[in-house]
Amino acid sequence: MSNSLFRTKKISSILSEGSDNAHGGGGLKRVLTAKDLTFFGIAAILGAGSFSSLGGAVFNGGPGVVVLFIITAIACAFTAFCYSEFASRIPVAGSAYTYAYASFGELFAWIIGWALIMEYSIGNIYVAFSWSDYFTSFLSKCGVDIPAWLTTSYKEAQGAVAAGALDGDQFAAWTTAPMMGSLKIIFDLPAIVINFLITYLVYRGIKESRNFSNIMVVLKMAVVLLVILVGGYLVFSNGLTANWTPPNDAGVKSFMPNGFSGVMAAVAGVFFAYIGFDAVSVLAEESKNPQKDLPKGMIYSLVICTVVYILLTLVLTGAVNYRNFDGVGDPLAFIFEKQNLNVGWMQLLVAICAVIAMTSVLLVFQMGQPRIWMSMSRDGLLPPVFQKIHPKFQTPSFATIITGLVVGVPILFTDKTFVLDFTSIATLFAFVLVCGGVLLIPRKEKQSGKFNIPYVNGKIIFPLLVAGSIVAIAWFAPTYFSNKIDFSEEQKIDAFAAGIPQNKFDTAVIVQQLEQSLTGANLNDAAFTGLLDSMNVKTIATEKLAVANKFVASANTEQSRTQKVSTIIFWLLMIGLAIITLLKNYSLIPLMGVSTCLYLLTGMTKANWLWFGGWLAIGLVIYFLYGYKKSKLAAE
Ligand code: ALA
Repeated sequence: MSNSLFRTKKISSILSEGSDNAHGGGGLKRVLTAKDLTFFGIAAILGAGSFSSLGGAVFNGGPGVVVLFIITAIACAFTAFCYSEFASRIPVAGSAYTYAYASFGELFAWIIGWALIMEYSIGNIYVAFSWSDYFTSFLSKCGVDIPAWLTTSYKEAQGAVAAGALDGDQFAAWTTAPMMGSLKIIFDLPAIVINFLITYLVYRGIKESRNFSNIMVVLKMAVVLLVILVGGYLVFSNGLTANWTPPNDAGVKSFMPNGFSGVMAAVAGVFFAYIGFDAVSVLAEESKNPQKDLPKGMIYSLVICTVVYILLTLVLTGAVNYRNFDGVGDPLAFIFEKQNLNVGWMQLLVAICAVIAMTSVLLVFQMGQPRIWMSMSRDGLLPPVFQKIHPKFQTPSFATIITGLVVGVPILFTDKTFVLDFTSIATLFAFVLVCGGVLLIPRKEKQSGKFNIPYVNGKIIFPLLVAGSIVAIAWFAPTYFSNKIDFSEEQKIDAFAAGIPQNKFDTAVIVQQLEQSLTGANLNDAAFTGLLDSMNVKTIATEKLAVANKFVASANTEQSRTQKVSTIIFWLLMIGLAIITLLKNYSLIPLMGVSTCLYLLTGMTKANWLWFGGWLAIGLVIYFLYGYKKSKLAAE
């Protein structure tokens, strides 16, 4: 009996369990080809990220967000190579979870499986909310209006009203909602209905789902291309290309009007847009030739979507000045509105397309989650009922229903912003472990007909890259490192904030204190507007706003402190990895995967880390109470 937390599973035993005849003879149907898998990838990737959160990303970073899309694509491409390597060696369902079991051992495998619930189930909550937004706006364009209290989440409505909203959908929901006792009845009905329908479809079987998904992918790609062509044409024919270098607050024209920090502020939204290529790997047991086709499916879909994102961002920021995307949740339709490019039929088409795009994302993730749980159950880490396969439909039936509940129930209690950040941090974390896992599994001889990650010895190159980057940064941005370890500004703000009296909503007091305390800090319009809303002080005099503005940006110390600390940790990890690579000859591609994903993690907020840490802690408790004892490896 093995008691080690790091007990690993042999690849040979994973493979034998994943065969069709295992588990009572009821395996999954092998019907998917490389084309299907590429379609699944695109189905999972192109969705709420591009249709919804792209607006916020562009508002933060301006046209320069293109750079972040490229950086994120590079990180995802390295990760896709690592997923492909694993998928070709271990072509069974379970994705990163299974891979971690073979490399890092059981404890990490469990942690990844637990983190992936965020990606698959919690991510789907965000998509379901966005689906509902577009669906209701599409209906209203057709003259059908659903009551506001049935189209928004309770938390969003409550938050908006608490922040002083006096109009808009949330306000309408709050003020018109029927009461049950003292509780207002507000929930997002379309989000719940679509979750129910998708769960039913996945329960019925892979073949039906595949056909449905392929049609949706073709449609959404067609409309996205149309947005790019029509929008792109109008950008040039209307002479709008100057929007690609808009003036910043100081009047200087720039591709990155808010600097690189503005671009990095968009990281959670941009990364969310890429999540999905990895979902292809959970279909290993349904692929005809997983060793060859899984890698193809992942890499093709990633490349196609990257090109689409870059073009979309350029069209968006060319068509409309980036500042106008503040609070815009349907950016692709927005650019065709009357005050912008003014193409009425495109607005309707985009609304329909968005609904289709998000339906296919929901479908892919809803299929992925039960398959991961099925693998965990096979290993004894979850109760046996999770591996039950429906005798007629040949789908993991119980796990599919539980997935529907895990997505559906929180729709009643959460909101979009919360689930977006949560999903991105957990997925990045899983990606780091997958790339790290490839470093740990033994190298193998090249086998023809299978995907082989190209081995480039990182021994010299990686340490040189790390050292070169440090030297280059110190040369071109001399204050970069000293700034990361200087917390004096944050301390000053903390002291100031602690001194704000009880009557902190008295703007006169605030402004007086501000004028005494701060000079020359950075401005941040979005944060400022938020503060104003929450303080309900919209009448404050204009000249005092500028001073208060400085306060808000500076008062956002928690975020700047978190970013500084995580950047320091990032560089220390890089130096450590470079030293280990010198000794161990690690392969360059997975090293780059680990590094780029860790870099993206430095954009996460403190609240993200805390929530994610809490989630992992709950997972560990469950593991020690159940999986550690019931694991099949424990009995060996
Ligand atoms: N990438 C997926 C989307 O944007 C999750 O909806």
